[in-house]
Amino acid sequence: MENVKLSLGPFQGITDAPFRNVFKKHFGGIDKFYTPFFTGIQKDHAKNMQGEEIDPRCNDVETLTPQILSTDAEEMLRFASQCKALGYKEINLNMGCPFPRVANKKRGCGLLPYPEKIDALLGRVFEEIGLKFSVKCRLGYFSPDEIVPVIEVFNQYPLSELIIHPRIGKQLYKGEADVQRFVELIPTIKAPLVYNGDIVSVGSFERISDQVKPVHEFMLGRGLLANPFLAEDIRVMPQATMNRTERLHDYVNDLYEDRLRHAGGSPKVLGRMKELWSYLMHSFDEPQDIWRKIKKINALKEYEEAVETVFRNHTLI
Ligand SMILES: Cc1cc2nc3c(=O)[nH]c(=O)nc-3n(C[C@H](O)[C@H](O)[C@H](O)COP(=O)(O)O)c2cc1C
Repeated sequence: MENVKLSLGPFQGITDAPFRNVFKKHFGGIDKFYTPFFTGIQKDHAKNMQGEEIDPRCNDVETLTPQILSTDAEEMLRFASQCKALGYKEINLNMGCPFPRVANKKRGCGLLPYPEKIDALLGRVFEEIGLKFSVKCRLGYFSPDEIVPVIEVFNQYPLSELIIHPRIGKQLYKGEADVQRFVELIPTIKAPLVYNGDIVSVGSFERISDQVKPVHEFMLGRGLLANPFLAEDIRVMPQATMNRTERLHDYVNDLYEDRLRHAGGSPKVLGRMKELWSYLMHSFDEPQDIWRKIKKINALKEYEEAVETVFRNHTLI
């Protein structure tokens, strides 16, 4: 596909600024990134708006869209104006988070059963917002029909894009993305549409992209965490086939060292590295063996040795 656009979805606890920067240094093919969601933007100079996660010296404001999880229009406007002042061009609203402690408070995908609330929220936001505003959502929280009246609301506003992950909240990340349901919705949606869900290989990309035509924008998720070459493979980039084991090894070590530097050498970096390995293991033969080794580690030295063992004894698939 000539005009295909690929982004990397946000993952709270994984795709932070160090991840995004190390990823970009080692791999190509991704046009756009999103921050994991921000919350609690209570004032104009909120503390969490001052770190490297959003600092334009650590991020590319042209290709990074900061995301917010909120049901408060004033908070969204506060977030938007701070992002704008930092040079960002777009913000994204998270209407997809399925975790009960979020969704039960009518946040994330918990807002989808309430189209009138969404209307009030967007009505206020679009009165004042000074940069592009996009939404990421699911088909619903309890039922895949909830999206229908929500789309009618979305169609009244100039969303810069609508990313749909075709699962319902109650599924969390289980079962399959309902590509057929996404296809049925395409003609009803005015905003530029982005597909997200279950793209784990070139084969699944080809199957899904064929089904959702003319949609040509895709957000990759767990598939890219498991196989960081996925975007290069989809785009058939020349470097995709070269020295894969060595490139993956360099990437994992670079990310680890960068995280260690940021954390002043603290073993707390192991949590984030282990979480990445829970996806990355699928790039290798015998992933469960690898996971058994990695998941119980709680010292830096042990981690370093385990990673070397993985690259010595296992084969990339
Ligand atoms: C641990 C975890 C954290 C996530 N954090 C976020 C987040 O902060 N914001 C968001 O919009 N989506 C988040 N997601 C959802 C992913 O961005 C993506 O939409 C989802 O994994 C579906 O795409 P996939 O099937 O390609 O993985 C998260 C998913 C997981 C598993």
